Amino acid sequence: MLSLLLFLPLLSALSSVPCQTPEACIGGDPSSLHLIQPLDSSSQHLMLAVTGSGAGEAFSIRYLERDEEGNVEWIMGPDSYLKPTWSSSYLKNGNLAFWAPEFVPSEEEPESSGKMYYSISGGGINPSVDSISEFCIGLAYGTVHSLQNITWSDAGSPVICVSSEQANVGAPHAIDPSVVKSGERLYLTFGSWSDYGDGENQGARGGGVWMNELDPLTGMLKESVLEECGDDFPNCFNDEHFISAANHRGYNADEGYVDGNSIEASYIYHHETSGEYFMFVNWFYCCRGVDSTYQIMVGKSDKVEGPYYDKNGVSLVDTVADTQ
Ligand SMILES: *[C@@H]1O[C@H](CO)[C@@H](O)[C@H](O)[C@H]1NC(C)=O
Repeated sequence: MLSLLLFLPLLSALSSVPCQTPEACIGGDPSSLHLIQPLDSSSQHLMLAVTGSGAGEAFSIRYLERDEEGNVEWIMGPDSYLKPTWSSSYLKNGNLAFWAPEFVPSEEEPESSGKMYYSISGGGINPSVDSISEFCIGLAYGTVHSLQNITWSDAGSPVICVSSEQANVGAPHAIDPSVVKSGERLYLTFGSWSDYGDGENQGARGGGVWMNELDPLTGMLKESVLEECGDDFPNCFNDEHFISAANHRGYNADEGYVDGNSIEASYIYHHETSGEYFMFVNWFYCCRGVDSTYQIMVGKSDKVEGPYYDKNGVSLVDTVADTQ
């Protein structure tokens, strides 16, 4: 996920142990850094949730601390072992890898409680498109007793899942949750590459980043969306009732759409002063070492639901990757 990185004035020192090496602090999987949020606006601490294959069923909290001289240090926080009660009902195998958490501080007690959305896979991280895989976006309510003691309670069911059957006909994977407030309303954006189609045109249709409204109290899909979904819950994706927010399909003049919809990791930032919304997305490929082509792109809108336009006035929904 795109990260918000804020450095705040130092007020207190941590009693906890600094990491011996950066690797020890990030769990040995730098690509698993997904979230940095200020946890306590009155202090220096930034919370960073890290996940990854090394973490198994856990995700881990790390902090950044800055001293009066401006030196920044990584500090170990607690490892949390989430075992959602619903995972055996909705996910096809027990891999339970977690990643891409999004922490949303509560309105009432932003320094000590909040909601954490996360991606959870039934098929392993980065399953091949051929494998049977299902993904869900989960939700846990967190209470921060101290920097070293954060307890989580599972929401009891997933927010949304996408089955392989849905993904094979165009649904986006239910991963990379990001949550943004707009007045009293709360919106979820999620999604990524597509599995739709065969051969060279695998994924050329479907997928993309999509949005829908959440219930601001529970953090789950709002009532009208759940009613519409009915017995299909939690496989609630529906391309007529969800908002298409961004795509990045390969395109060339000879063949039309090719090479999939290389987009993921959406994040919406609401700029309070201007009232504008900025949608950040990642294009192309992560995780290929020096051959990685990941790029962070941005579009802007006056409305949270979009459309989001790039600097040339092209809607992010219509953006294509020229593959000529
Ligand atoms: C964390 O805080 C809770 C609430 O104060 C307490 O019940 C629990 O024992 C604490 N856990 C640890 C490991 O300190």
